[in-house]
Amino acid sequence: MSTIELNQPSATAPQIPVLKHAAIDGMEAYRALVAEAERDHEAFWARLAREHLDWRRPFTKVLNDANAPFYQWFEDGELNASYNCLDRNLINGHADKTAIVFEADDGKVTRITYQALYHRVCRLANALRARGVKKDDRVVIYMPMSVEGVAAMLACARIGAPHSVVFGGFSAKSLHERMVDVGAVAVITADEQARGGKTLPLKTIVDEALTMGGAEAVKTVVIYRRTGGRIPWIAGRDAWLHELEQAQPDTCEPEWVGAEHPLFVLYTSGSTGAPKGVQHSTGGYLLWAAVTMKWTFDIKPADVFWCTADIGWITGHTYICYGPTAVGATQVIFEGVPTYPNAGRFWDMIQRHKVSIFYTAPTAIRSLIKTADANAAVHPRSFDLSSLRILGTVGEPINPSAWTWYAEQVGGGRCPVLDTFWQTETGGHMISPLPGATPLVPGSCTLPMPGIDAAIVDETGRDVPNGQGGVLVVRKPWPSMIRTIWGNPERFRHGYYPEELGGKLYLAGDGAIRDPDTGYFTITGRIDDVLNVSGHRMGTMEIESALAANPLVAEAAVVGRPDETIGEAIVAFIVLKTERPTGAEAKRVADELRAWVGKEIGPIAKPKDIRFGDAMPKTRSGKVVRRLLRSVAKGDAISQDTSTVENPAVISQFADAV
Ligand code: WTA
Repeated sequence: MSTIELNQPSATAPQIPVLKHAAIDGMEAYRALVAEAERDHEAFWARLAREHLDWRRPFTKVLNDANAPFYQWFEDGELNASYNCLDRNLINGHADKTAIVFEADDGKVTRITYQALYHRVCRLANALRARGVKKDDRVVIYMPMSVEGVAAMLACARIGAPHSVVFGGFSAKSLHERMVDVGAVAVITADEQARGGKTLPLKTIVDEALTMGGAEAVKTVVIYRRTGGRIPWIAGRDAWLHELEQAQPDTCEPEWVGAEHPLFVLYTSGSTGAPKGVQHSTGGYLLWAAVTMKWTFDIKPADVFWCTADIGWITGHTYICYGPTAVGATQVIFEGVPTYPNAGRFWDMIQRHKVSIFYTAPTAIRSLIKTADANAAVHPRSFDLSSLRILGTVGEPINPSAWTWYAEQVGGGRCPVLDTFWQTETGGHMISPLPGATPLVPGSCTLPMPGIDAAIVDETGRDVPNGQGGVLVVRKPWPSMIRTIWGNPERFRHGYYPEELGGKLYLAGDGAIRDPDTGYFTITGRIDDVLNVSGHRMGTMEIESALAANPLVAEAAVVGRPDETIGEAIVAFIVLKTERPTGAEAKRVADELRAWVGKEIGPIAKPKDIRFGDAMPKTRSGKVVRRLLRSVAKGDAISQDTSTVENPAVISQFADAV
């Protein structure tokens, strides 16, 4: 719970008026929805599912909890997600509306209408079918941010093939692990990815992953030509996206699937073991993607929505691929990084594209505060941001000072700042202010969304009073929740519905506290060994295993250290098989280990600090004393009792970071 001190609500917050005429208009409207859900949870969700989705075959059953916690929603209903995100917009008169304004790393802008996006998706869907990809086959997508990336996801949805998007920053080894676990039959990738003026050879990484063994089921690799860079080619298996598309008709009958049909599997880090494949449904997931676009973001026909996430993460799934298209919105999709060609990129893009709803990560805001302070030319006040009406953040706690800067400097004190709390597993927003209703308090994600029965309990599952910290749980199932862990239902059951809490509460994995007066929630940080680095989830065990696999390393322990900009920094404590290195040698080995982690997992997992010692501080029973390591990582004077530590002398060796 290292983030708690970053997250104290502040008394000097700017007063931001709520928006008028929002989808949920005022606290009374919010309370009415909460009451409706409390009265009849199933009827509430059934009403929303009928109003917000187009069903091929209407459902008659709402919730099936016979096999809890493997809940099923709308199970006898049939629909298709791509139909709801594309065809439905054409039928509703939005064929010529811009679906996506794409801005490339180098600033080149392209626009695509709903009609054109529909045809692209249909062509690719046909091409996948022509290559033998069928309903239920899994397709891995390893793509840069692009229209093509979103089209690839929707094409898979169209033919009922669950996709598994792997973030372009993951290494060949991580990609391989995911391809094997999900049992992919095809991969959609690009020749290269462009980011911040640099390129990354995605196709080469796919080839490397495919030679690692175990992914022989992959018979097709589709390649989007992004940069035109040279790539290796395997005849028969590899195919250019543009050539495949040209050969196909531009309409495609959707595969109508049951509401519980897996729409995708997205891997995320847990506290133990390998990354887990979070499986989401079609009906329940898409429902919440659409509803939260309306409730949280108050999306209106003239809005220009911009979520800066990557499609490799859940935020990019829900608030780039599925949510905006399900409600027929115009959205900006951005390929690059916030600091290229300079740190004014976000503000410049908001100005040029007249973005009205902007959704980003606290890390990005914190790093842009620093650059704006140093250089007026990239300060938001140097841009016309008057198009903005709603701001949001996601992925990690936002500290009140960053919140206030965002509200005042970016939002001009006019725009509600929505601190949205949710997770890969929850599919969409869980606890968040509503722009037309909720009085805002910086440092708090405020109140649960209507229909979401969030609560705070102690370790035995008993309610704790407001003002007292505990663990965040959700009492009732909700439609967009995780269905299972791909291939590992027992891990799902034990991990999310633990017996210690009585087996009936969804355990989010975060600590939380409610304000005694307002009942507002503040998230205090993970209660497990998951770190949040720049808004990305990283398991300490994963990084430890990667380090331990290096031939130089005898033992490795990884902890997080609170960091002003990136939230948490990765700190690795290392014992080498040889002597403890010092000076230039320590630096050389540390760099080698960082590069190793980059290869094993991906650059995002590289430890910021590496510290060497002769032995790991352990208890007499041989357990690494992580609590102590966390204090050492923070640079705290070690005042704690070290009498339980077998070898306290080594602690001081770890004081210096390399
Ligand atoms: C953290 C991202 C505080 C939390 C959508 C959660 C947050 C994990 C917030 C999920 C927030 C996300 N305030 N913490 N507004 N949003 N988190 O799966 O620890 O990548 O459990 O989903 O991020 O990360 P994930």
